[in-house]
Amino acid sequence: MPKSKKSFDKYAYYQLAVQSPEDHVHIFERMFYELRGRQGLSLREDFCGTGLISCEWVKSNPKRTAVGLDLDLEPLEYGRKNHINKLPSSVRRRVKTVKQNVMKVTRQKFDFIGAGNFSFFVFKDRHTLLQYFKAALKSLNREGIFALELAGGPGFIVSEREQRTYRDKKLGKCVYYWDQKDFDPVTHYGMYAIHFKTEDGVMHRDCFTYDWRVWTIPELKEAMLEAGFKAVHVYWESADERGEGTGEFLRSDSGENDYSWIAFVVGTK
Ligand SMILES: C[S@@+](CC[C@H](N)C(=O)[O-])C[C@H]1O[C@@H](n2cnc3c(N)ncnc32)[C@H](O)[C@@H]1O
Repeated sequence: MPKSKKSFDKYAYYQLAVQSPEDHVHIFERMFYELRGRQGLSLREDFCGTGLISCEWVKSNPKRTAVGLDLDLEPLEYGRKNHINKLPSSVRRRVKTVKQNVMKVTRQKFDFIGAGNFSFFVFKDRHTLLQYFKAALKSLNREGIFALELAGGPGFIVSEREQRTYRDKKLGKCVYYWDQKDFDPVTHYGMYAIHFKTEDGVMHRDCFTYDWRVWTIPELKEAMLEAGFKAVHVYWESADERGEGTGEFLRSDSGENDYSWIAFVVGTK
């Protein structure tokens, strides 16, 4: 196996293969507008990692502000250096990321709290989930909205390894692997991982690993209502004529029994 000479920047590969912050901002702003009839201005990005969604949010409108929260200094510092510090100063001063547990109520109150890429699956029992929802509710302003992105369907729990090839000017050709290692139907605990193969042929295993509980939509709705949210909505991805997801999420009381799906559960104050 050839050895990689260049240092491996796992966040750059993650950004290329996994993240689309423009899509998240588009989804969040549409939800807020639909539910509140005005533009959402302040965002708290929970489990922000490198804070890419926060950066995109403040870029999208000069009145917008964003605070990202994450427990891990490594992605936070990477994001400060590579994303926040590269923004023009008029944009940069409206965004910050903080090393903080999302379980803690923030002094600042927000229009929108969003948690992307299923990160809240890290909470493995209902009591903890409920504490998180209560803390989020207290961190919202009067018209605040709380949105959780989740995945599900049989295709999300089977043992399976999906791969996709990317070609990027800077990173070259690389292969992204989404590895669904294990799932227990009794506990709904699942083990997931991301690997990358870089252009030099080196396989970088377990760059990101996830020890999750795969929550279901009704469990989340019930817990949000119990935490005190006034109403809970589900945003389900619309499909084109061929049944492919369009990237647009619409408020819905039911969904298709797709092999794999992504949805948002959204609580309003
Ligand atoms: C799947 S990554 C999400 C990265 C990014 N939000 C995205 O959309 O790709 C999950 C992140 O959640 C953070 N995290 C886990 N538990 C947390 C907690 N209780 N409070 C804040 N951050 C937490 C981890 O440090 C990690 O960076």
